[in-house]
Amino acid sequence: MNTPLYNSLSELIDKNTLRMHMPGHKGKAYFKPFDSIFPYDFTETPQTGNLYEEDGAIREAELLAAKLYKAYDCHFLTGGSTEGIHAMLGAICSDGGSVLLDRNCHKSVTAACALFDLKPYFVYPEILEPYGFGGKLSLESTEKQLKAHPEIKAMLIVSPNYYGIIQDIKALSDLCHSYNVKLLVDAAHGAHFPAINLKSPIELGADVAVLSAHKTLPALGQGAYLIINDTVDSKAIRQTESMVCTSSPSYPIMVSLDLARDWLQNTNDYKLCAERVKDIREFINNNTAFTALTSNENFDLDSTRLTICTAKTGVSGHQILKKLDSEFNIVCEMADDRNIVCIMTGIDSKYDFEQLKNAFLACSAGLTDDILPDIIPDLPEPKQAISIRKAWFSKNKTINIKDAEGKICARPITPYPPGIPVVFSGEEITAKHIEFLTKRCYNTVSEVLICTEF
Ligand SMILES: Cc1ncc(COP(=O)(O)O)c(C=O)c1O
Repeated sequence: MNTPLYNSLSELIDKNTLRMHMPGHKGKAYFKPFDSIFPYDFTETPQTGNLYEEDGAIREAELLAAKLYKAYDCHFLTGGSTEGIHAMLGAICSDGGSVLLDRNCHKSVTAACALFDLKPYFVYPEILEPYGFGGKLSLESTEKQLKAHPEIKAMLIVSPNYYGIIQDIKALSDLCHSYNVKLLVDAAHGAHFPAINLKSPIELGADVAVLSAHKTLPALGQGAYLIINDTVDSKAIRQTESMVCTSSPSYPIMVSLDLARDWLQNTNDYKLCAERVKDIREFINNNTAFTALTSNENFDLDSTRLTICTAKTGVSGHQILKKLDSEFNIVCEMADDRNIVCIMTGIDSKYDFEQLKNAFLACSAGLTDDILPDIIPDLPEPKQAISIRKAWFSKNKTINIKDAEGKICARPITPYPPGIPVVFSGEEITAKHIEFLTKRCYNTVSEVLICTEF
């Protein structure tokens, strides 16, 4: 296999070297579940290479991944896309910079704003009915913000999002570059794109993008790739990674990144997955009261993401998710009040798809699809009372969401999943926010942390 890191560590294991270094298990089979993992769990030595020094087999493995994603460079991350989001924002916007954010960004973005004292401006994606989640970002609204705030250094967008919606990265990167602004893409859910003939964000013109290998590839939890264009300083980003992540990056995670990239390049399993998702979407739309999201003229969709809308049945996504778990022993990735999301990958078998299909059919029994769901209320424009950083580090206390009107939010109010903050730190919580949160996220958000002194 063309897996330089896996191959070189396997050779090292065969040498049976006496390990007088960490980790403390010394690579010996000691705890059953880790018998084949501990041997690969090395530390930085002349034989194993050093992630932050860009040497050895780790570097060779990174460059193969860069090639796959048609990027100028790739960094292995062992702290998930969260690490990549922190590093790219810190390195590109630097301390106290301004950033334009897709308002539906992940909560890790707010933590980066607190760490680097970033000032956010927002673009809101249109809400797609009846699903109730964000669709595409408008170029007009983006340009309005870029024009109004020339101090913006970077724009961060999410593509694909949790539900599979893909943004027009080419158009957004052209627009950003015309204002001398870098485009950063949170593609945490898109590491598998090359296998289904979808371009990587870098191929489409983005400057930096992060891909959670562990979400859609057979890689260990926390494994991610940061892919980089030749328009930014790769070394400066690496230095910021070493600032926000551990000085002992996990070798098993890095080996899994090497193996997952090779797997993606050399199997047909993801193409098969896309065909099976197409079938199951058709089955659900023809035989159940639910609606499987399919791409249309308004947006492009990851052909492997299975988003099932329950809105027209009057039953919430949360209820169906619970039923799938308790009655069918199926645990889905996430649900909100109107949808269920299943992450389908090249690892799922024909039988797995059949099981899921039958379970959705059974859950739909007795339901109809004629209920008109309420129109989702628009969120109010945010009123940033104090900076995210100040709010994050202020004195604070926990109160019931019902008593929060007029208070300043200390931590992002984030129903999880999908981990998208409804209110950012430093923003004033309004009656409209409370109505939105109690209506849409009644079972995940009941208390909030507010600033008491700032
Ligand atoms: C859109 C998005 N971005 C970033 C992240 C963070 O990814 P990770 O868990 O790899 O740190 C998530 C996690 O769910 C996510 O959904």
